[in-house]
Amino acid sequence: MSVYHEPVLVSEVVGFLEPGRGGLFLDGTLGGGGHTAAILAATPRARVLGVDRDPAAIREAERRLAVYEDRFETVEADFADVADRLGAALAGAVLDLGVSSHQIDEVARGFSFRPGSPLDMRMSGRGGVTAAEILNTYAEADLARLLREFGEERRSWPLARRIAARRRESPFEVSEDLVSVLEDLYGHRLSVQDKARVFQALRIEVNRELDSLGRALPALRDRLEPGGVLVVISYHSLEDRRVKNAFREWSRECVCPPELPVCHCRGVALGETLTRKVVRPTAEEVASNPRSRSARLRAWRKAS
Ligand SMILES: C[S@@+](CC[C@H](N)C(=O)[O-])C[C@H]1O[C@@H](n2cnc3c(N)ncnc32)[C@H](O)[C@@H]1O
Repeated sequence: MSVYHEPVLVSEVVGFLEPGRGGLFLDGTLGGGGHTAAILAATPRARVLGVDRDPAAIREAERRLAVYEDRFETVEADFADVADRLGAALAGAVLDLGVSSHQIDEVARGFSFRPGSPLDMRMSGRGGVTAAEILNTYAEADLARLLREFGEERRSWPLARRIAARRRESPFEVSEDLVSVLEDLYGHRLSVQDKARVFQALRIEVNRELDSLGRALPALRDRLEPGGVLVVISYHSLEDRRVKNAFREWSRECVCPPELPVCHCRGVALGETLTRKVVRPTAEEVASNPRSRSARLRAWRKAS
């Protein structure tokens, strides 16, 4: 176990990937290297390319996994951008989406709503917009859209209006600036879940998370060797729905609209979904690692 991040569903990930087959595996969300460590430890026949946007995660995993240096390489990048650059086909790939415990616990990274946390939330720690810039510059309609779409916020318009009113007085800088707007809107009914949903919406927008996932899924599928396996662990329904729909569509023989009398599409399934039902952590895992409670794993195997 790593204090940096306790990996979730490790034996399930290894079970679906079957690293004993050997070959190159991609860990697109290296984090503290927990899943990569399990793949490398399972067999000397597996090599892993570990990818993360966060340079701190890359450094931590390289330090921790130095003993495997002849079978382990890292790349600092968005996992959506690496598939095209791979030299070899993949025996398997794993995406363990979202942020690591280390990122959440580091107040300076701005992922949590603990007081004093700067509204940053960039996984890479640089480039792009910060959460504060979004709150201070987005049009009300765009704020309302992202709060509704990415946070499933019921009161997206009133909240967007209050954000715009507040920034006219002073710009958003730290988490309590946003929390106080939420407190004004929700009063004593404001729950931790309400705050978490709004912070999640900003994080998704800052890091373009759904866009990365949407680009990565077909790109990784195309880089799998025949029989190769893609495993994705999601932490909220927006991600899980995309993964479920993609795996379902790839596993169908015919994807023609139902009204077409004759099939005009590819006419063959690209592979099979290995998880008929989504895989959740056991009660024991949730008890020992509460942050695993929302994890949902799906796996898909490319046709041989
Ligand atoms: C839940 S943690 C992964 C933990 C890891 N599986 C472990 O066992 O330690 C998610 C990691 O993925 C990274 N990440 C999230 N989205 C990414 C993306 N689109 N491209 C690259 N890295 C990403 C985050 O920076 C974070 O370090």
